[in-house]
Amino acid sequence: TLRVDPRGDGPEIADHLYGIFYEDINRAADGGLYAELVQNRSFEYDPVDHPSYTGLTAWTPVSLAGGAGTAEVVDDEHRMNERNRRYLRLELAGTGGTDAAFGVTNSGYNTGIAVREGAGYDFSVWARTDAPGGTPLTVRLTDAGGAALAEPLRLEVTGDQWTRYTGTVTAEADSTTGRLTVAGGGAGTLRLDMVSLFPRDTFMHRPNGLRRDLAEKIADLEPGFLRFPGGCLVNTGSHYGYEGPDYPRARSYQWKDTVGPVEERATNKNFWGYNQSYGLGYFEYFQFAEDIGATPLPVVPALVTGCGQNQATDDPELLARHIQDTLDLVEFANGPADSEWGSLRAEMGHPEPFGMTHLAVGNEENLPEEFFERFVQFRDAIEAEYPEIVVVGNSGPSSAGATFDRLWELNREAGVEMVDEHYYNSPQWFLENNDRYDSYDRQGPEVFLGEYASQDNRFRNSLAEAAFMTGLERNADIVRMASYAPLLANVDYVQWSPDLIWFDNHRSWGSTSYETQKLFMTNVGDRVVPSEASGTPVLTEPITGAVGLSTWATSAAYDDVRVTSADGEVLFADDFSAGDGHWSHPDGRGEWAVEDGAYVQRDTSAEDTLVVAGDPEWRDYDLEVTATKLAG
Ligand code: AHR
Repeated sequence: TLRVDPRGDGPEIADHLYGIFYEDINRAADGGLYAELVQNRSFEYDPVDHPSYTGLTAWTPVSLAGGAGTAEVVDDEHRMNERNRRYLRLELAGTGGTDAAFGVTNSGYNTGIAVREGAGYDFSVWARTDAPGGTPLTVRLTDAGGAALAEPLRLEVTGDQWTRYTGTVTAEADSTTGRLTVAGGGAGTLRLDMVSLFPRDTFMHRPNGLRRDLAEKIADLEPGFLRFPGGCLVNTGSHYGYEGPDYPRARSYQWKDTVGPVEERATNKNFWGYNQSYGLGYFEYFQFAEDIGATPLPVVPALVTGCGQNQATDDPELLARHIQDTLDLVEFANGPADSEWGSLRAEMGHPEPFGMTHLAVGNEENLPEEFFERFVQFRDAIEAEYPEIVVVGNSGPSSAGATFDRLWELNREAGVEMVDEHYYNSPQWFLENNDRYDSYDRQGPEVFLGEYASQDNRFRNSLAEAAFMTGLERNADIVRMASYAPLLANVDYVQWSPDLIWFDNHRSWGSTSYETQKLFMTNVGDRVVPSEASGTPVLTEPITGAVGLSTWATSAAYDDVRVTSADGEVLFADDFSAGDGHWSHPDGRGEWAVEDGAYVQRDTSAEDTLVVAGDPEWRDYDLEVTATKLAG
């Protein structure tokens, strides 16, 4: 029985109740939302990012019409700048006839560079040559078999100073296996960096812009806010900045690395096991939030490494620098165009402030006291200078049990305005926890449900999420913001599943959860209409289904991970002999492990099915994951 009181006076629902959480996971940025088509455009890939990488990853040396030479990625005094340190040095032998050239071919992401017949693509490269008469540069767009997809572009590199050369190619056929070749003719040393190809047709035609189909799918959700850039990505890694030739490449996400001219931005080892270019950086995120009408909600590192790595940095100078960086971020977002950081925003094309209202400090730190001690210092400094900004705290994943409870307690005691909490649970859990927020303390902090998903991408997951979301709305007085996670996944580079939107190099599609989110996000009410339901639905059909579980095996080595049923039967067992692996449910996709010294992506079939047949009642099946930590 359902009783609805249409005249009842339920709580008001925040306009920005539903938003999106964007993280650069599953290659969401490079090879995803960031429209750049060239992979490893600045030759910065490094084994530190991933053991299989070299400076020439995604590039192959190529000879055209008898041209010859050598291609080497170097980091020497001829570099473009201190942050973009490596470049490609081509020693051209000067063999062959007038069309002879030597260079490199890029294979893009997934099956290659995707182009559409009739569409224009902007090519650019930074180059210098020591050939006194200059070096002719040939730029070719072909398919994987070598067939031309466009008229070649001919440019002339002159002078031995880094200079940007540009041109446009128009595709004469569709292809999803495109290759971009850049080759120099004649003899001498030709240096190349930042080899780039962008579709003209980016989202809202922004330069250095976003892939249109993906950005549109996100915009169609009409998100009230955009939480970015992570997640574990933000807090994990070294908190030091850029410091000379030995600068650490596994830095936490530091916003100043990601702004200014793209050729002067650093690249970094991504927490999720690949190189991130920062071509899509803070300016672009703010711009995107504005373009889709979402409130920007950045997350900055709190100097406690989270996501299972759990280390607190104890360096007062470093803490002071990060707090100052955070104040500078507010100035970058909201300051006048003649302020120090506001002027950089203006130079980048946005003199008006972005109007940021919320800022989150930290993500999933499992050292409550250490995290909180630092969080409070960030908050005090921000509130002293910018009292209008809501500083969002966090309680990490609810699966962390006592840590989660302690973090909530600390947030409550410190009067934090809004707390970010996370969970990834079974559909059953979502069905059973519709009342989760009914009992949350109305005098305590507001809730930002920054990450949640039921563990799979099937219809029943989206149905369970929809049921749960009615509980979020009913509690709209305390749940002020909520976002499903993760948002994006490139099918060929998956670290985490389920996800909201999937894509390859030319297609994208929403999961069933995407449709649920869209339904709720595009139909946000103004006010809750009180209702009451009674009676328990009984299943009349037996259910059969996969059981989803996940665990972490990050910085330490884990061995013997097994999933057992309550009576001890082993449903799934795996052996992580070494490594930095993240074992992700439901089918093992995207799981990384080290085997014979190399990273491998394990096969996708590590799924076990628990068959529940002939049983009309809902029942709890207890499963356990056990992991043994290896010495060292
Ligand atoms: O959404 C994927 C990951 O889940 C996020 O990076 C992290 O915050 C959480 O553990």
